[in-house]
Amino acid sequence: MTYIIANWKMNKTAREAVKFIDALTDYLNNKKSISHHILIAPSTIHLPILSKSLSKSFNLAAQNIAFKDAGAYTGEVSAKMLSEYVQYSIVGHSERRCYFNEDHQILYQKLVMCLQHNITPIFCIGENKNDRDANNYLTIIRQQLNETLMLLDDDDLLKTIVAYEPVWAIGSGNAASLDQISELHTYIRSILFQRLGEKSNDIPILYGGSCNSSNTQSILTQNNVDGLLVGGASLDVVHFQKMIDMLDV
Ligand code: PGA
Repeated sequence: MTYIIANWKMNKTAREAVKFIDALTDYLNNKKSISHHILIAPSTIHLPILSKSLSKSFNLAAQNIAFKDAGAYTGEVSAKMLSEYVQYSIVGHSERRCYFNEDHQILYQKLVMCLQHNITPIFCIGENKNDRDANNYLTIIRQQLNETLMLLDDDDLLKTIVAYEPVWAIGSGNAASLDQISELHTYIRSILFQRLGEKSNDIPILYGGSCNSSNTQSILTQNNVDGLLVGGASLDVVHFQKMIDMLDV
């Protein structure tokens, strides 16, 4: 089953979010069958209200999760609290790494928090432009995996989703090329394979970075691409529905 995840980032008021969800629900209710995982990651503050109108055809995800379970962490929201509303959470998005200095150690703790509360982490990795230009990107990707995800035991590792998001492609309007996507997804799969063998195929590897309705199909035809993590193009419900339609083609 293919994944399509809408990462709204810090966009939409409650009213706008409800309007989107109502429209998406109507649209999905009219579809004959839905054989994909459709996830919406709104702002945390909207999760309670959106979870009330949640239909069976899609799920909610958190965009972030605290690195501790409870305590004096002003402004944070724990996995335990979020688990009342979501079964998934994005972890390690490049914007969290960049603006909030989330390092490997914190990200590992966030993974553990998710797994302790039955939340599937959607773990983002990706090289920045300097790493790409210096031809250093495979080393960076291996390091990002080795110092976080690969520290989990096999059972937990198999409960995760990986999202490859080259930082230079996010929000740029230019997705990575199909060759670049294919190279990286095959590389990530090979790292997981070395550890888990055939079972590694159970870990979905998603691509993110300027996905839209024009490149959805071509990206999804690449080997080892199991879905898309969509930012800007997920904000407009009609555009997002168009992308959902393309998963069936
Ligand atoms: P974008 O964002 O689709 O706007 O490039 C993707 C993401 O940051 O997850």
